[in-house]
Amino acid sequence: MKKIQTLEMKKISKSFHGIFANKDIDLKVESGEIVGLLGENGAGKTTLMNILYGLYQPDSGQIRINNQDIRINNPVESINFGIGMVHQHFMLIQNHSVIENIALGYKETPFFFPKIKIREKVEQFSEKFNFNIDPDKKVWQLSAGEQQRVEIIKALLNGADLLIFDEPTSVLTPEEIKELISIFRQMKASGHIIIFISHKLDEIMDICDRVVVLQKGKIVGSTDTKDTDKKSLARIMVGRDISFNIDKKKIARGRKILSVDSISVMGDKGLDAVKNISFELFENEIFGVAGVSGNGQRELAEAITGIRPIYSGKIKINGSDITNKSPRDIYDTGISHVPEERIKFGIAPGLFLYDNAVLKQHHLKKFSRRWFLKYSKIKNHTEDIIKDFNVSTHSINSQIRNLSGGNIQKLILGREISEQPQLLVASHPTYGLDVGATQFLRRHLLSLRKQGSAVLLFSEDLEEIFELCDRIAVIFDGEFMAILDSDDKNLSEIGPMMAGSKRLKKQ
Ligand SMILES: Nc1ncnc2c1ncn2[C@@H]1O[C@H](COP(=O)(O)OP(=O)(O)OP(=O)(O)O)[C@@H](O)[C@H]1O
Ligand SMILES: [Mg+2]
Repeated sequence: MKKIQTLEMKKISKSFHGIFANKDIDLKVESGEIVGLLGENGAGKTTLMNILYGLYQPDSGQIRINNQDIRINNPVESINFGIGMVHQHFMLIQNHSVIENIALGYKETPFFFPKIKIREKVEQFSEKFNFNIDPDKKVWQLSAGEQQRVEIIKALLNGADLLIFDEPTSVLTPEEIKELISIFRQMKASGHIIIFISHKLDEIMDICDRVVVLQKGKIVGSTDTKDTDKKSLARIMVGRDISFNIDKKKIARGRKILSVDSISVMGDKGLDAVKNISFELFENEIFGVAGVSGNGQRELAEAITGIRPIYSGKIKINGSDITNKSPRDIYDTGISHVPEERIKFGIAPGLFLYDNAVLKQHHLKKFSRRWFLKYSKIKNHTEDIIKDFNVSTHSINSQIRNLSGGNIQKLILGREISEQPQLLVASHPTYGLDVGATQFLRRHLLSLRKQGSAVLLFSEDLEEIFELCDRIAVIFDGEFMAILDSDDKNLSEIGPMMAGSKRLKKQ
């Protein structure tokens, strides 16, 4: 097959249960172009790309490469046409090495000495794109950014001329995002085509030559990024103006809710992930933990919510000891948790929306009587979440796995925060949310704070941290480098503290 010079999708439509996910979409991309795909949660971005990658068949429409009509029946065919896709949730085998994973997906893996051949190839690509990856490491030892690079090498090795990235940056650290952008630029320079889905308007403006906006399955705008700005893009996407400012008023904090006293916690690899951390958290307060992911945030959140054992130290809620209590007991004291990997751990994919909406609350009196669940109450509750959080779905009687990525996020968030918890532990709560939903969520956290909840917010997004938090801790290698008030003059030092090169002992 010749290199892809142009690829066109013409009048593509696809519906599920009679509802259009894509309607009459025309999209054309050319060699050397980086095209952004933007749209609210549920707008149809992933569906369109799944069609291009051969995972779905369109109901109607045509795909053309270099002016020839083609049909893509499955991903193997799409790879043969030169199309590659890096999914948001990587599809690598954790216990295999980088080389083994690549061999599995490589269409020309030789029968003899496959490892030697593939090692050569990996080294060749690593050098060309500055990948810096150890081919013998097992996948579970790699960071999200490294795993993504393995996926990219897989696609490039298979001769991909066009690469689709579905929200590739939401799992990356700021440093890794910079590296990914530089990989994009090199691929562009060598004539590759990139289609890039993101909710982050800054990234779209920074990376893409052109941006195409989808709304409810249709294209509502297409423009060169140099001719537009963030505000106009948001307006085209949402159909109204979005204000990017939130004004947070100072309020006095109330009683002490949480006290964490010198806790240490072990990580999955058997090493200390949280080292002797202490802090307190009060009513009417949002306490942010800033840091590059992988520095103990997940383990700290899991320790507080009872998922991970604490081997020394104490945690108290309202003065009573909850150290190493079960997650259910801790939940019942009024602590809610929005976990990091919520698609993996936060839902039961095959169950209906309404089951998922009460996954942890089904035992509460209002939802059950003896052995029976009160389905009408549960369904009303689900309808409320859907309304409040603007979850786009055709029915609460559908399986949650059929929702778009962002809409699953919204349902989980709704479930965890609609009850007004005493303490909300939220890890990256705006991951995967579109701009409108992100603003809604940030305002909601502030309103919880106003009503007396305490919020422990983990985020790598410093803008989000500064916008929302009353106090900010910086975590590095399992330790707090500092705890700062939101008006502390040392705030500008957060960057170096996140990198571990500076520490303030004012705690
Ligand atoms: N397999 C499926 N079965 C039923 N409905 C589906 C299926 N896949 C997608 N949909 C529906 O199609 C619509 C578009 O979903 P899609 O995943 O393409 O959105 P998206 O733009 O990628 O959103 P997000 O930003 O949240 O990832 C949604 O309403 C979704 O519920
Ligand atoms: Mg999607």
